Amino acid sequence: MRKFTTNSREETIELGEKIVKALPKDVKVILLDGNLSAGKTTITKGIAKALGVKGIVNSPTFTILKTYPGDVTLYHLDLYRLNEVGNDFDLEDYINDEDGFTVIEWPYQVNQLLPDRYVELKLTFINEDTREIEVHSHHINDEWEANIWNIY
Ligand SMILES: Nc1ncnc2c1ncn2[C@@H]1O[C@H](COP(=O)(O)OP(=O)(O)OP(=O)(O)O)[C@@H](O)[C@H]1O
Ligand SMILES: [Mg+2]
Repeated sequence: MRKFTTNSREETIELGEKIVKALPKDVKVILLDGNLSAGKTTITKGIAKALGVKGIVNSPTFTILKTYPGDVTLYHLDLYRLNEVGNDFDLEDYINDEDGFTVIEWPYQVNQLLPDRYVELKLTFINEDTREIEVHSHHINDEWEANIWNIY
């Protein structure tokens, strides 16, 4: 586990970009944990940048899924309202796409569908401009985490 502090929206975007660039290439899923305004959508903008996504990433709050073409396709899932949609939603289709990358906000109601290996980012609101961001590797050797802030 590594803990970072960012002091602006831009720093959080940069951290998201660096995390993806440092990540082992076969890891394709990032879970985001954090309250409203913690910065989940903001860090997703940085993740998208690292994947070569050109479109503007917004919160998918009123849709479950937004797909962004890039060098790698970004699937941005917000499962906050999943129970209104029902459980015939095929999360596996996105998670198992070898050529895609999946970011999941509010992932915990689909625990049984999550892949074995993923990175979890825990974002905490400290004050208006400051966020604390923990990087947790699940079933992944966490040595890559030491390189995050050295990547350009
Ligand atoms: N250090 C920081 N990192 C990220 N966002 C910051 C930071 N400082 C200020 N902000 C602001 O905080 C807000 C974070 O909003 P964001 O939409 O990313 O949160 P969220 O976790 O996705 O919330 P929601 O659950 O409502 O979708 C943005 O308005 C952003 O400009
Ligand atoms: Mg959001």
